[in-house]
Amino acid sequence: MEIKPLTGAFGAEVLEVDLKSGIDTEESRLIEAALAENVVLVFRNQDLDIDGFESFAASIGDFGETPFITPVDGHPNVLRVIREAEETGPLFGSGWHSDWSFQLRPPSTTLLYALQVPEVGGDTAFTNQYLAFESLSEPMQSILRGLKGIHSAERSYGPQGTFGRPDPDASMEIHGDESAVVHQTHPLVRSHPLTGRQSLFVNEVYTVGIEGMTKTESGSLLEFLFEHSRQIAFTCRVRWMPGTLTMWDNRATQHFAINDYAGSKREMYRVTLAGEQPALS
Ligand code: SIN
Repeated sequence: MEIKPLTGAFGAEVLEVDLKSGIDTEESRLIEAALAENVVLVFRNQDLDIDGFESFAASIGDFGETPFITPVDGHPNVLRVIREAEETGPLFGSGWHSDWSFQLRPPSTTLLYALQVPEVGGDTAFTNQYLAFESLSEPMQSILRGLKGIHSAERSYGPQGTFGRPDPDASMEIHGDESAVVHQTHPLVRSHPLTGRQSLFVNEVYTVGIEGMTKTESGSLLEFLFEHSRQIAFTCRVRWMPGTLTMWDNRATQHFAINDYAGSKREMYRVTLAGEQPALS
């Protein structure tokens, strides 16, 4: 297995590995370590069916919980992330976020495998939340270490949220409900269980406030952190081809599905792996 950096900031392509033929325990630990170090890993030219995709994911970790979206029939852990050429409604994943950060134990990792992609467009952008935190001044880091973010799925999946009402024209069956309005607090800065590095754990889709602060106070601070996190030097971008599998570490990155392929179809399989309760040590 060869690891080739994607950008100067982070992300890597993993070469000389055929995921279809299965990986052994040593290879899965190597991938896990490479992911912790590079945050985003891209495997090109893979030839996986849904079982192969699921079994590769299972060799890396246990499956996480997937709320609000109907999974693929017979595969409760796999989502079909799909948009038909003629669809115009809100695009799933199009906003900077860390997957399901509103859960008590948000997923450690997400795996996305491309079945069909536009000839051009439909890339996924990533930010590096280690770099976002480490580039702040020591006094700011110290303030943030003492704070907790409030996360909620309400804006996306609450009754008034982006996906709050079933859309009969959408290919993905997304069903928001009242359960989305609950709040979950997490440290604003978390330590990665494998690397020990600290990362900024906020995102504009699910972080709705800061514990103990007024709306005005938390609004200003969060807006600064969102803006700071997505500066270009902390980002990388993955261009998809059929057979590309990308996995990312939700503990140290945010991502954004780019909505620039009107008139083309895009279809992927997606799995999340279980994570731990975020903590700062
Ligand atoms: C997601 O947010 O998990 C989907 C990302 C994508 O479709 O590129």
